Amino acid sequence: MSKQELETVTQAMVAKGKGILAADESAGTIKRRFDSIKIESNEKNRQAYRDMLLTTKSIEEAISGVILFDETIRTTALDGTPFPQMLAKKGVLPGIKVDKGPVEIPGFPGETVTEGLDGLRARVKEYKELGAKFAKWRAVITIGDGTPTYTCLEANAHALARYAALCQEGGIVPIVEPEVLLDGNHTVERCHEVTEQALKVTFTALFLHRVHLEGMILKPSMVVSGKGCPQQAGVEEVAERTIRCLKRTVPGAVPGIAFLSGGQSAERATEHLNAMNCMGPHPWEVAFSYARALQDPALKAWKGEAANIAAAQKIFYHRAKMNSAARTGKYTKQMEAAG
Ligand code: 13P
Repeated sequence: MSKQELETVTQAMVAKGKGILAADESAGTIKRRFDSIKIESNEKNRQAYRDMLLTTKSIEEAISGVILFDETIRTTALDGTPFPQMLAKKGVLPGIKVDKGPVEIPGFPGETVTEGLDGLRARVKEYKELGAKFAKWRAVITIGDGTPTYTCLEANAHALARYAALCQEGGIVPIVEPEVLLDGNHTVERCHEVTEQALKVTFTALFLHRVHLEGMILKPSMVVSGKGCPQQAGVEEVAERTIRCLKRTVPGAVPGIAFLSGGQSAERATEHLNAMNCMGPHPWEVAFSYARALQDPALKAWKGEAANIAAAQKIFYHRAKMNSAARTGKYTKQMEAAG
């Protein structure tokens, strides 16, 4: 795929009023989500859940692409259509999580580096044949006493850059995700400092690995107070700090930034996105790539029962539309009641 083709896909991923649904929970993560509604994580339930989300009528109004997990890209919707084809028919781009998750860095307690580079060239080729137009790789950065270390930031940035270069070589758009975790007692100032460091190191590695910036999407976390911090930054402060941090670190050549929600409540994640877009125009599109903030209310309504599908889909569609409004700074709290 040419650079031009990669750019066409990135533009579609962050088209005005749209964002990405992350539905790529690994086996362990989906089990935790299903535990919360007391249903078993087996293949049948996972297929039923993802079918419920992805067959929601008119989601293409707000959702440009869906990140799938390896199992999902290889399975079919309940009507027998493979998930990637079903999405493509609606005009939604299928994507794929290609990392193999974080593992501890020896000698650096509590810090991780994400694995999955070995054999990635061949896996990218296969995923492309299965219909994937883009991929995702998540690096995890934890704020703690004396962490993150430079070693951790650098190891993760290196892996992200190698992954991104391999995806572009294979003709799929990489989503580069350095996530600074919400967990911890740290202040918003500390989160700001760490996010800025992580992004600087990441973009240095992307440059060194000759990644085509116009053919990638950045998926960062927002600059927020640690979950356990008694002083919680308000919506305006989060928006202002996040944009300031990104302006210092993300080249304008990057077409779009699609945030993760990171454990924020669904409505709070929408409010933050809206506040950032109200501060625009920005050099890049400011979009979303949420998992929990898009799925959680629908998951709770679904509870694993076919009888709840219509209600859960209505809630999912509403959440997607609220975030679509936030893409252009047009979201208001009053709109929630209409759902
Ligand atoms: P959350 O929005 O739930 O943080 O998930 C986004 C994601 O894709 C994590 O890798």
